[in-house]
Amino acid sequence: MKKSIIAAGVAGLMALSMTACSNGGGASATTGAPTTTAAGAATTGAAPAAGGTIGVAMPNKTSSRWVADGNAVKAGLEAAGYQVDLEYAADDIPTQTQQIDQMITKGVKCLIIASIDGTALTSQLQAAADAHIPVIAYDRLIRDSPNVDFYVSFDNYKVGVAQATSLLYGLGLTNKDGSKASNPPAGPLKVELFAGSSDDNNATFFWNGAIDTLKPYLTDGTLVVGSGQDQFGQAAIMRWLLETAQTRMDNLLTASYGGNGAGLKGVLSPYDGISRGIINALQNVGMGPKISDGLPIVTGQDAEIESVALINKDVQFSTIFKDTRKLADQAVVAAKAFLEGKTPTANNTKDYDNGVKVVPSMLLEVDTINKEDIQSKLIDSKYWTQAQVDSGQA
Ligand code: GAL
Repeated sequence: MKKSIIAAGVAGLMALSMTACSNGGGASATTGAPTTTAAGAATTGAAPAAGGTIGVAMPNKTSSRWVADGNAVKAGLEAAGYQVDLEYAADDIPTQTQQIDQMITKGVKCLIIASIDGTALTSQLQAAADAHIPVIAYDRLIRDSPNVDFYVSFDNYKVGVAQATSLLYGLGLTNKDGSKASNPPAGPLKVELFAGSSDDNNATFFWNGAIDTLKPYLTDGTLVVGSGQDQFGQAAIMRWLLETAQTRMDNLLTASYGGNGAGLKGVLSPYDGISRGIINALQNVGMGPKISDGLPIVTGQDAEIESVALINKDVQFSTIFKDTRKLADQAVVAAKAFLEGKTPTANNTKDYDNGVKVVPSMLLEVDTINKEDIQSKLIDSKYWTQAQVDSGQA
């Protein structure tokens, strides 16, 4: 019963889809309220089913978050009556551009893209626009193109603020909420800073949020970047790779910490894969293995299961939880809106300038996870099971 209502609604919308994104106007289609269900599976229309394929391009399968994202988007779109062409590109730009070219050729009704290099898709997006295919940038903004119709993501600046706040909390300088600790340790405390991939628009937002938060402590000398490498370009890890982060941390330990990490108290990390590379390097020189054994505080992002397991074991200090189910829901809501000839509801229309235009965005909130939050935020919400947390495997 529910299925046929969904399918009926979708069919009625298909007729409209070819004109759906050719203009920026139209009424708001959604409430914008994030949900935890397959949001696209709502309640419209009365015509018979017709389906239609939506192309979903994800960057890689090596990071468990993108696998979770891909699965959640696919499930939501299918529940809404669409077929899904879900592709992963092994972090290879030509593979992703080819996949998107093929989706366009096959006549997908809408594209949902988490880009590898946010600046590399201009001609694909032009082809999509020429074919009246709406484009939704998924988590990563696509830059340098007028043909990005909508952006679904989290508040990326706030992610950076949360990461830096967590570092300060781990160092004992603040309480968990960022307020000043009543009995902070005396500085200077040595830290190192890592940033994400410089071709990913998000990396700069994370960095800016973090640096703005750390700045007062760096300025008054409470915190010191031991290596002196405090610029984004020095801290950036191309493609967010664990191995690259591990090598950089190895080099920092050799050059600035006598090869054994002496004096290093904390490391700002923008992503769990990078965090694990950093932790490997720290443990390889004999630090830790746990925080209670003196392992420096390392932050993270994405609540990847491998890192949640490390947090549970007192190895990684924190991660920022971005609920991929909610993000997937928003992508489905936006896709449905376009296919209904409407404009998805944005909650931010000023911050995401892609170099050509400000892209209307739906930004979701994030949660910081320490060991004591795993049960309430990740297990109770069924994001991960206790068994997965124990094994570190999805
Ligand atoms: C970013 C994303 C982060 C993290 C990183 C590495 O674009 O916002 O949450 O997943 O990529 O995959």
